[in-house]
Amino acid sequence: MIQAQALSKAYGQKTVVDRLNFTVRPGIVTGFLGPNGAGKSTTMRMILGLDRPSSGFVTVNGKLYADLPAPLHEVGALLEARSVHTGRSAYNHLLALARTHGISTARVQHVIDLVGLTDVARKRAGAFSLGMGQRLGIAAALLGDPGTLILDEPVNGLDPDGILWIRNLLKDLAAEGRTVLVSSHLMSEMSLTADHHRHRERQTDRRPAHRRTHRIVLTGHRPGPHTAGNRTAVPHQSRRCRHHQQ
Ligand SMILES: Nc1ncnc2c1ncn2[C@@H]1O[C@H](COP(=O)(O)OP(=O)(O)OP(=O)(O)O)[C@@H](O)[C@H]1O
Ligand SMILES: [Mg+2]
Repeated sequence: MIQAQALSKAYGQKTVVDRLNFTVRPGIVTGFLGPNGAGKSTTMRMILGLDRPSSGFVTVNGKLYADLPAPLHEVGALLEARSVHTGRSAYNHLLALARTHGISTARVQHVIDLVGLTDVARKRAGAFSLGMGQRLGIAAALLGDPGTLILDEPVNGLDPDGILWIRNLLKDLAAEGRTVLVSSHLMSEMSLTADHHRHRERQTDRRPAHRRTHRIVLTGHRPGPHTAGNRTAVPHQSRRCRHHQQ
């Protein structure tokens, strides 16, 4: 579970995340929506301890990221930037990560197969297409078999088959009981990846877990009306962030 409370970030005079409150629960895919520049990546970096909040805090399973004893096993992340040694093969990139975290070689092969890179795993990652690079990033995020996944715009660069694949993968991961937070600036894509439902209906919702999803909407520079707050217990409302559950 990921919980943010009054999470804020300012760069100089500019506030880019303003008192954001949310809870991301396990068992469902949570979409994190907002236009370019709304603060999605900044929020994700704060969850991962890569950026320090100006005020407020965010925890994963009740702890600050920096206090997690085995972070790679608890949180897997794909951020926008590709951080792969371009001369290394996909296999060796993952193997290096695995070796430094006590993860088995068998697990490396398993995640390679899972993301569909089996045929190109021995090729130089630097020569990968954008979509193949995204798959490699997802493999790295899954390497430690983490209970929480944070993926920043994972559909970027994927072809229609790849988009369908990632939709199903995210739903399967959530159905296994994982917490899945996925950002997008594409409302249309999220509406397909996510299967929205109202929080109130959850008690009576008989659909399997992987069919249930909710979303957090960042309104970015356009402060939203205070409308959704008292209809849902989770999450709360902040001035510039609206949380929708449909
Ligand atoms: N290191 C930084 N220094 C100064 N400003 C920054 C920094 N990182 C982000 N910003 C600013 O913070 C705002 C939010 O950026 P962020 O990358 O979090 O948005 P985003 O929602 O991820 O956008 P996109 O959909 O384009 O990925 C932007 O105005 C950006 O210019
Ligand atoms: Mg971003």
